[in-house]
Parts: sequence; structure tokens; C-alpha cells
Amino acid sequence: MAYGSFREFLDRLETEGELIRISQPVATELEITVLADQQMKAPDGGKALLIERPTVNGAVSSVPLAINTMGSWRRMAMALNAESVDQVAAELGGLLKAKPPMSVREAIRLLGQALDLRHARPRAVRDGPCKEVVHRFDPPPRRTEPWPKAPDILCDPDSARSAPLPTLLDLPILKCWPLDAGRFITLPCVVTRDPDTGERNVGMYRMQVYDAHTTGMHWQLQKVAARHGRRYYEKGARMPVAVFLGGDPVYTFAATAPLPDGLDEFLLAGYLRKRSVELVRCETIDLEVPADADFVLEGYVDPCEPLREEGPFGDHTGYYSLPEPYPVFHITAITHRKDAIYPATIVGLPPMEDFYLGSASVKLFLPVLKMNFPEIVDMALPAEGVFHNLVFVSIKKSYPMQAYKIMHGLWGMGQMMFTKYIIVVDDHVNVHNTREVLFHLCANTDPQRDCLFTRGPADVLDHATPEIGIGTKLGIDATRKLPGEGFKRPWPPLIQMDPAVQERIKSLLPR
Ligand SMILES: Cc1cc2nc3c(=O)[nH]c(=O)nc-3n(C[C@H](O)[C@H](O)[C@H](O)COP(=O)(O)O)c2cc1C
Repeated sequence: MAYGSFREFLDRLETEGELIRISQPVATELEITVLADQQMKAPDGGKALLIERPTVNGAVSSVPLAINTMGSWRRMAMALNAESVDQVAAELGGLLKAKPPMSVREAIRLLGQALDLRHARPRAVRDGPCKEVVHRFDPPPRRTEPWPKAPDILCDPDSARSAPLPTLLDLPILKCWPLDAGRFITLPCVVTRDPDTGERNVGMYRMQVYDAHTTGMHWQLQKVAARHGRRYYEKGARMPVAVFLGGDPVYTFAATAPLPDGLDEFLLAGYLRKRSVELVRCETIDLEVPADADFVLEGYVDPCEPLREEGPFGDHTGYYSLPEPYPVFHITAITHRKDAIYPATIVGLPPMEDFYLGSASVKLFLPVLKMNFPEIVDMALPAEGVFHNLVFVSIKKSYPMQAYKIMHGLWGMGQMMFTKYIIVVDDHVNVHNTREVLFHLCANTDPQRDCLFTRGPADVLDHATPEIGIGTKLGIDATRKLPGEGFKRPWPPLIQMDPAVQERIKSLLPR
């Protein structure tokens, strides 16, 4: 059964021994980070935390905060309403195998069809729990002057009290790391629409709180909402944006999933929860959000308004991302459940909760990749590579230079464009065991012959590239070399035990 609310999911986590309640007051400024980081670094992702009395500028917030709710394979599977993430991947893969596609375009179309098959289509409803409390705000006049440097709201302990209730300043929004520019909403599901086609997108882009009704909108250059924003800019029209938090956790996962532009994340969510997502229309803008969400922030981005400095922010790269100009989000309404819980995460030095979100996407979309590259056996994005910096891929190689075909193919697939390092190994190598991959990398390569440098788009958060958003990539062919690849020497056998001897010795040992 799909979860009816975020609270229901947390109840399940608690019943299954996956959640710890913290009843003492804990500060949203840096303190919750310490607790959450301890759990995220614990074996198998520790536990989820429900901070019942988070404090904001010293005052206890009436809204509890939940963190690390998807930060383990078990909790990730529970969020997807499944026994295991592998089970979901196998099911999705089975659907896609019904009729093999002949091209990437066909694979994407087929993925859309597969998601359509069952409960995927969202359903419009007139009302929902996310509107139990509704507050509207007057939109401010359009700004033409450049924005001043973002104030650190933590320096103004009275700010929460001077604003009419409730505003962003009443929510237990985290200041995650010491040098962060302020508070950041870290698990927002951002809904936008393509002004030309009407296609919806739900993406996760962090939001820096500037004041009671204004935030940054950190959609990066290559993301779908940024493309929508450019079209609104060309049209000179205000861009409606709805942000929701909470509800069935599967929405949060879907917002992070690298779906192709044009494929609605609510289809994926509906398919995964085996129940249509019920969507309710916003109060002040022409967009829909899940009726069971905990919080909804309605508003707009004015593409004609000057961009505003966003950051620094302690990022998933393990470093602070430095201030950069981003669009400003103006809030026209906040609606919420009466018993809302604020969902949050922190990112930083790996491993963190986002490792499981990213890795679940890899598992789910591996069948799609395999349809286009049938030689791919498995793929892993180790936590040390903070999402997409490092990819290990194993292939069943049957012709010369096949590893290079895979490198080029992966760099050309959606957000895999951000991958800095791709290491290709043979099919028998377990890509989820970094030690095993490094062994084969060292053993099977001649650096000059087996390395490929190329250029391409880079993650804008990558501080090491010489220019923002562009960089070089390195592919390493760590597969066994074939004569057709110019390798003329005999390839020695890998040392392995004799299985029969192993079995015999096993039977001799006491049980
Ligand atoms: C916790 C978390 C925070 C994220 N923050 C951002 C962000 O601030 N900006 C961004 O562009 N992508 C961010 N991402 C990655 C995007 O959510 C991801 O690339 C997603 O696929 C984008 O959706 P889109 O392809 O519909 O644009 C974040 C992911 C996670 C898990």
C-alpha cells in the first residue's frame, strides 16, 4: 500500500526500528547536522531521526523535523514501498523487456509507456490535507535594481518574530554547515511547466532562505527547470513555481531521479507507489501539487528580475560551493497540513543520505541503459565519487574497443554527462566492491594505452574545473585486452581457487 502521508512513512520506520525520536530541543543552526551526520556515517546509514522540538533562533518550532529517512538501502526500499530496491529494478526491467527498443529515443518512449501502464497517471482532486492551513501573501513589485549581498538571517534573532506568522522563518529550516550563507531548504520538490508544451517537471533544487517570503532557486544550468526558466525569460513572462515538501516519500525520490526532459516525475511516482498521485491545484498559481504533501510554497520566478547571489553552501562535493548568481523565488502562498512534519537532509563529505537516493536511481535506470548497451553487466557510482564523479561499469566485452564505446555512450546519456571518471572492467568484476575494481584497474592497464581524455559539460558544483560548467573527462579501459586492440602478448589467467577443493575443505571444517 502507498503511504497516505509522510507521517505514515515515519510511523512505519519507527515500527520497523528504523527511526529514533529526539525529544530534547536541538538547534536547526548546525546542531541537527551533527546528529544527522553521525547517523549517516554509521554502518548501513544508521537510523532516521525525528527531531520533535527543533529550535529556530533559540525558540522551539511547532513543526517537527525528520532527517535521514531514506539514508539506507532498507529505508530506501521502504520509501519505494518495496522489499528491496533490486526488486523494483527487476520489475521495471521486466516491463521494459516486453519489446526491445532500437534506439535511445525508443527506449525513452518505452520507459514512458511502462510508467503509464498501471497506476502511473496522476489524478486531479479538488482538495487535500496540504491545504488544511492556507496563508496568502501579496506579490512584491518587480525588482529592477541588483540585489544586495544576501543577509545571514542567523545574525538577526528577532527576524522570526517581526514577520507575520507563519512564514519561512517559522519553519525549522537548517543552517547545515558553519560557512553556509544562511538557511537552506534541502529536500524541496520543485514543480515547473514547459511554457511551450505544458509538460510538467518535478526537480529537487535547494533553496536559500533570503527573508520571510523570498528564497534562491538553485536549478543548475543543465537542469530541466532552468530550461523552462530560459523559455519564460525569452517570453518575458513570470514563471509559476510550486514547491512541495513531504507527502509520500516516493515523490522526493522521483524529484531527484534523472528522468528524461518531458517525462513527468509523477508518472514514475504513481508507478512506484502503485497508486495514482492525487494532485490538487495551487491557490495562487496554475500548477498542481500532491494533495498529501506536508508543505506547499507557491510563487513565481520573474526571469526579468536580476539574479541574486546564492551560497556559499556546504555541498555534496564535500566542499562549500561558492556564491553564484541564481534566480529568486517569491512566495505568494504557504499551505500546509495541520500536523505537518518538515523533511530535511544534509549533504557534505560522503557517505550521506543522498548516496542512497542516487544509487537507487542507478539501479532503477540500469535496465534502460542495458537496453541500449546490452554488453553492460552492472554499474556503480561509489559514495566517494559524490554522485556522478566516478562510475564503475562492468561489460561483457566481445570486440575490440568496446570499453571506449561504453565510455562515449555513457557520457552522452542525460546526467551521466557530469561523470569525470569512467572505469570499465570485465563482467566478472563486482563493481560494488571498490577494492576489487581498483585491483583490476591497477593490474589490467597500461596508462598511456588505456586512458582516454575528452571534454564535455561538467557539474557546476565542481570547484576543480578550470571554468564553471565545462571540464575534461577520463575514461580508463581496465578490461582484458584483445589481439584486435593491438595486444600481442598472452593474457595470463587470474588466480582462482579450485571450487571442488574449496568445497572439500569446507566440509572438513567444524560448523
Ligand atoms: C539532496 C539533493 C539536493 C540536490 N540539490 C540540487 C540543487 O540544488 N540544484 C540542482 O540543480 N540539482 C540538485 N540536485 C540534483 C537534482 O535533483 C537531480 O539532478 C534531478 O534529476 C534534477 O531534476 P531535473 O532533471 O528534472 O532537472 C539535488 C539532489 C539531491 C538528492
